[in-house]
Amino acid sequence: MDVAADLRARLAESLVAARVLRDPRWVEAFRQVPRHVFLPGFFVQRPDGAWAPVTAEHPDHLALVYRDEVRVTQLDNDDRAWQQALATGAVPGVPTSSSSMPTIMAIMLEALAVAPGDRVLEIGTGTGYNAALLCHALGEERVTSIDVDPGVLARAEARLTAAGHHPTCVAGDGALGYPSRAPYDRVLGTCAVSRVPVPWLEQTAPGGLIVTTLNRPVGAGLVRLTVRDGRATGRVLVEDGRFMPLRAHRQAWAEEALSAALTAEPTTSRTTLLSSRTALDPASPFEFFAGLALAEVAVAGDPVRLAHADGSWVRHRGAVVDQGGPRALWDLVEDAYRQWRALGRPRRHQFTFTATPTSQHFALDGTTLTWPLP
Ligand SMILES: C[S@@+](CC[C@H](N)C(=O)[O-])C[C@H]1O[C@@H](n2cnc3c(N)ncnc32)[C@H](O)[C@@H]1O
Repeated sequence: MDVAADLRARLAESLVAARVLRDPRWVEAFRQVPRHVFLPGFFVQRPDGAWAPVTAEHPDHLALVYRDEVRVTQLDNDDRAWQQALATGAVPGVPTSSSSMPTIMAIMLEALAVAPGDRVLEIGTGTGYNAALLCHALGEERVTSIDVDPGVLARAEARLTAAGHHPTCVAGDGALGYPSRAPYDRVLGTCAVSRVPVPWLEQTAPGGLIVTTLNRPVGAGLVRLTVRDGRATGRVLVEDGRFMPLRAHRQAWAEEALSAALTAEPTTSRTTLLSSRTALDPASPFEFFAGLALAEVAVAGDPVRLAHADGSWVRHRGAVVDQGGPRALWDLVEDAYRQWRALGRPRRHQFTFTATPTSQHFALDGTTLTWPLP
């Protein structure tokens, strides 16, 4: 019995049962493309937060590969972390490359609504597994995939070759797209962007689709946009999706500001009726709307903290909220909560998103309300 094939069939079945996978082309791709070829080694996080290496020799390697879970393959943009983990057992670090959670991959591939002959540009090659699924469904000559990390890309390309696929793999900044192979019928961002890059608008064929996640610590989400006349517009998808951000779209200042908020002296300290969970838990129906009031705000837990690059910060412990800096961010969230209730508690899929070369904004269905990206 082929254990990997069996595990793969079960994973595909579970994605179908969960209704995230519907198109027979993707069902077949998930059944056939061997994820383990793209994940000969990866990190698993231990309860203490450190990352331990799992290699093909590990007794549970295949079982772990075919779970519906993200598999982290790089920490801190530095391949030496892997070598170190092999030597010492576990290392600290922030994930910078991975094979995404199969559920999210399936949601995004379904959202792409591909037709035979479509040319696809994938941003974020990572392990190459998603590129292989695209090759399986559309043919390798239709697939272009970019990763900013040449080492990551070289490994992905070798594994794609081993799995029998030869898409066009490009080392470069995905924010620039890849004009030599444009136009694309579909652009798929598998790393989150703070704004939809203008080259994606320019390189998508008229009527083509962009599917990507937006890099928002609060209110992140998947969008599917149709491009026409250099402008992309479409809906925030009902399914949530959170991805590691495009390298240049990471918030480098955030760690320092969030750690300063642990001990900073507040300008105001008071009680609040709004729980941090209602505002910040991705499962909360208000969280997307809270994100509109908290654009570019970074978040950390234990105790819950918010911070903005302008120096504003929040510390939320129990029912007490401490605030400092030029803007009272928690006051803004409470205002947003009142507005959200007055609007009938709209959910994420009631919002649209529009990107033009000069501005990008969310809008709420049936109203004239818009929220520009800063
Ligand atoms: C979540 S992984 C992609 C998963 C991948 N599609 C797969 O199937 O394994 C995100 C990838 O985006 C890449 N990345 C980050 N910034 C980028 C950029 N500016 N341009 C292209 N790739 C980028 C990272 O190196 C990382 O490999």
